[in-house]
Amino acid sequence: MRTVLALETSCDESAAAIVAGRRVLAGAVASQMEEHARWGGVVPEIASRRHVEALPALIARVLEESGLAMADLDAVAATVAPGLAGALLVGSVTARTLARLHGKPFLGVHHLEGHLCSVHLGDPLPSGPYLVLLVSGGHTELIRVDGPGAYTRLGRSRDDAAGECFDKVARLLGLGYPGGPAIEAAAAEGDPGRFRFPKGRVSLPEGGFHPYDFSFSGLKTAVLRQVQRLAGEGAPLPVADLAASFEQGVAEVLVERSCRCAVEAGLETVVLVGGVAANRRLRRLMGEATAARGLSWRVAPLAYCTDNAAMVGLAAIERLEAGGRSVISLGVAARLPL
Ligand code: KG4
Ligand code: ZN
Repeated sequence: MRTVLALETSCDESAAAIVAGRRVLAGAVASQMEEHARWGGVVPEIASRRHVEALPALIARVLEESGLAMADLDAVAATVAPGLAGALLVGSVTARTLARLHGKPFLGVHHLEGHLCSVHLGDPLPSGPYLVLLVSGGHTELIRVDGPGAYTRLGRSRDDAAGECFDKVARLLGLGYPGGPAIEAAAAEGDPGRFRFPKGRVSLPEGGFHPYDFSFSGLKTAVLRQVQRLAGEGAPLPVADLAASFEQGVAEVLVERSCRCAVEAGLETVVLVGGVAANRRLRRLMGEATAARGLSWRVAPLAYCTDNAAMVGLAAIERLEAGGRSVISLGVAARLPL
């Protein structure tokens, strides 16, 4: 069984974890969200500085909690792409320095591979290939997984990611950052059927629509128009109904296209990962829709939906088990397809 120390600093969460096999021995996340909330979104320079400040204490904490020393580890891993370049560099340089100092291999991990692996931190999956709906602040992708490292993208968002859309609509409704949890809380008391928002389809050059691609920018604009119309009428804004209708619209389109993709690709299981997978309406609709089509579904454990280091550790362990490791001079990349 391999044991790794993993770091995640691709955006606004500094995270460290110790993973042994499929088990998380210790994990810690220091969120910078409150600080970025003042600016309405992530400020890259602030993110990098806070990672530098947070990592030493996080690493000391997970080592102490796991009862392990650096000498007990098999490798040190960090997210190296995609994300904010400066933020990624902090985690990567820290991990590579520790690896070098203690004579351990280093593994650079793709952030999306981390999200894909997050589901393995929960209940075991049925055997065979499966379809992952990866929905985060930066990505909305449908990925066929045939095994570790065997990933085929079948669909994606052509513009905003689903999480990004939650964040933008939350700002529009005056709900603050991060938008996902704020919308979910506001939507709890709202009527999801009061407003109908467009499903955002992607036209194909030969006519018709792409069956598995998404477009969320029109949805965001439709919410804006509705808000402007209602504001023009001078009545108080029905924030709960707007939040619930928006959340329902996003969840329906994610669920419909995922299920269609799974059925047409002959895949029997749909897996939900990424920050937006924390959304309860999305989980409920996914559960109902997969059941209606005779599919099974899984979701990453709640604690591992949003960014964390345990998922990065697990991706590193899968690579280590396959004999992989990264060169110590490996750089970072702000953009990099899976
Ligand atoms: O995976 P993640 O932590 O970071 C990225 O890799 O982007 O995802 C963050 C995104 C944010 O856009 C946030 O608003 C969204 O996930 N999110 C949610 C919920 N919790 C987080 N969206 C909807 N409902 C939630 N409960
Ligand atoms: Zn993420």
